[in-house]
Amino acid sequence: MSDNLHSAAPHVPLSENELKLLQVLVYEECGMHFDERRAHFLADRLQRRIKACQMNSFYSYYRLLTSGEGRHELAALLENLAVNETSFFRNKSQLDLFHKVVMEELLQRKAQARDYNLRVWSAGCSTGQEPYTVAMLMCDALSYFNLRNPSPVPLPSPKPLVPPPWKAEVLASDISYSVLRTAQEGMYPETLMDAVDFSYRLRYFDKVGDRYAVKKAVKDMVRFDFHNLKTEFLPQRNDVIFCRNVMIYFDDPEQKRLVEKFYRCLNPDGYLFIGHAESLFGISDKFRMIHHNNGTAYQRLEAKA
Ligand SMILES: C[S@@+](CC[C@H](N)C(=O)[O-])C[C@H]1O[C@@H](n2cnc3c(N)ncnc32)[C@H](O)[C@@H]1O
Repeated sequence: MSDNLHSAAPHVPLSENELKLLQVLVYEECGMHFDERRAHFLADRLQRRIKACQMNSFYSYYRLLTSGEGRHELAALLENLAVNETSFFRNKSQLDLFHKVVMEELLQRKAQARDYNLRVWSAGCSTGQEPYTVAMLMCDALSYFNLRNPSPVPLPSPKPLVPPPWKAEVLASDISYSVLRTAQEGMYPETLMDAVDFSYRLRYFDKVGDRYAVKKAVKDMVRFDFHNLKTEFLPQRNDVIFCRNVMIYFDDPEQKRLVEKFYRCLNPDGYLFIGHAESLFGISDKFRMIHHNNGTAYQRLEAKA
């Protein structure tokens, strides 16, 4: 790599050491790891933010980032570094495993214990397609469960999406405020709806102009919040955690720390879903792998009494 990565105007000069300083700062703030292969992406985004702040040196920008007044700019930089790619029904076979195996096991186990609270966390939810997909699948699984198992309480008519006494919540979090705003709005153009088949569109969306709006009853199940997965205090008591295509940007030590935190954030026998290109192999032995067709997930192992 050259000494001056970006010396041509209007870019500010940027040396390898300066870029390393920023790599360390980003890693410590959010866990994202920019190795040699991704250094140019980091340099490019850094130049854009320096320009947006109308600064003329790395030194003054770095001082801003590390000062009390720089918290907003640090958040903006991290937003610009995150990859937000997502889609509805992403990794269909894994979602089938969630819908048909995991939800069924959870509902049986919880109904037996008369615990009617379900909580799923979508960690790194991006623009909302993942948590809304999960909420729709939870509604379908609850409805099918109710068909086969008598409800312990009389059901109101028309039957709500989450039939009482069940309470179902999807917590959806991200480090980027801008994706959280889009997610909260819950409006998607036709071009993002390819994977949503017509029965789902009919039941869970309203057509508003040329966009699809997630129905209020589904939106009411999902709570969006800012969370940085790097921090120690993360949402507890989850039955299932989805953290897909997020850890791929972390290095091994950070992945280990995160999976250890997820273990503690799950209820006993809870489930962890990670991305297609991610694995717990060499990261943690506190989970057992489960398969269904081509879908994979991990279940928390409990210490034997
Ligand atoms: C590629 S998207 C994955 C979205 C969705 N989970 C999926 O698989 O379709 C990764 C998301 O993780 C978020 N992210 C990255 N680092 C994070 C961190 N330290 N804390 C919380 N979210 C983070 C990014 O902002 C981005 O929206």
